[in-house]
Amino acid sequence: KKKIILDCDPGHDDAIAIMLAAKSKTIDLLGISIVAGNQTIDKTLKNALNVCQYLGLDVPVYPGCGQPMIRDKQVIAGDIHGESGLDGPVFEPLTKKAERKHGVDFLIETLLESDGDITVVTTGPMTNLGMAIRLCPDIVPKIKEIVLMGGCYQLGNVTPAAEFNIIADADAAHVAFTCGRKITMVGLDVTRKVLCYPEIMERMGKNENIASKLFIDLMTFFNKSQKEVYGWEGGPLHDPVTIAYLIDPTVLTVKEMFTQIDIRSEQSYGRTNCDFFHYTNNEPNSFVAIDIDTTKFWDIIEHGIREYN
Ligand code: BDR
Ligand code: CA
Repeated sequence: KKKIILDCDPGHDDAIAIMLAAKSKTIDLLGISIVAGNQTIDKTLKNALNVCQYLGLDVPVYPGCGQPMIRDKQVIAGDIHGESGLDGPVFEPLTKKAERKHGVDFLIETLLESDGDITVVTTGPMTNLGMAIRLCPDIVPKIKEIVLMGGCYQLGNVTPAAEFNIIADADAAHVAFTCGRKITMVGLDVTRKVLCYPEIMERMGKNENIASKLFIDLMTFFNKSQKEVYGWEGGPLHDPVTIAYLIDPTVLTVKEMFTQIDIRSEQSYGRTNCDFFHYTNNEPNSFVAIDIDTTKFWDIIEHGIREYN
């Protein structure tokens, strides 16, 4: 099994990433660390706990950073994920408790104690990982790989240049991309190809278990808010693509290239400048997803839902 830590900001698509990772036969989900992003940290933490409780998952959840490393303001995405950060499903009163340990300490301690076999998956702003690397650089050689949902080499979703998870804490992303470990960027270029159209909703709904119910409740709200913003009939299922890739790497086509985070300019702040055509002579420092096998992806999602039967 592939050991992973999932660092996330639930978030509709983060919730589905948790659902997929927790029961996968190829993944060992060691813990979930939480960051502010789609909503403030109190809300993203509560959402993660609610999702775990609802799905009956015995996975530790660690509260992490509530603010970016350097920039003053936390950017949130209330227009997409609603007031709670996870609008749509209604949960029973919460009894599952968060761990007392901070998410950054969890990352540091777990990585230090490991044999270098843990993949860090981030599906929110990369604050916790960036902080962990800066606090304890000794963890860097212990990271097997970083797989992130974030960035784009084409169009952004917050500004023309930038994607949400990166713009929300570009400095943290910069730390991750320059740390020297293998990093795989799953950006909007591929996640916008897996739109949750009505026929997908119907297909997943047919499985009739707790996971399919959560999927439908989440995506019904998410699709609606995406339609209002983009006019699409289905919302992109961004975050679970990272997990699907770890379950079956052939789901993505990745290309090695040099990527630099724009942490300086005003207009393009937070852009992942990917040197797709190798214009610069910089050595590649990242693997960037450039295509996705959508049939395989939806099969993995459906298989993930069926694990809850
Ligand atoms: C990313 O931003 C968040 O709103 C989603 O959860 C996803 O991680 C997409 O840009
Ligand atoms: Ca997310």
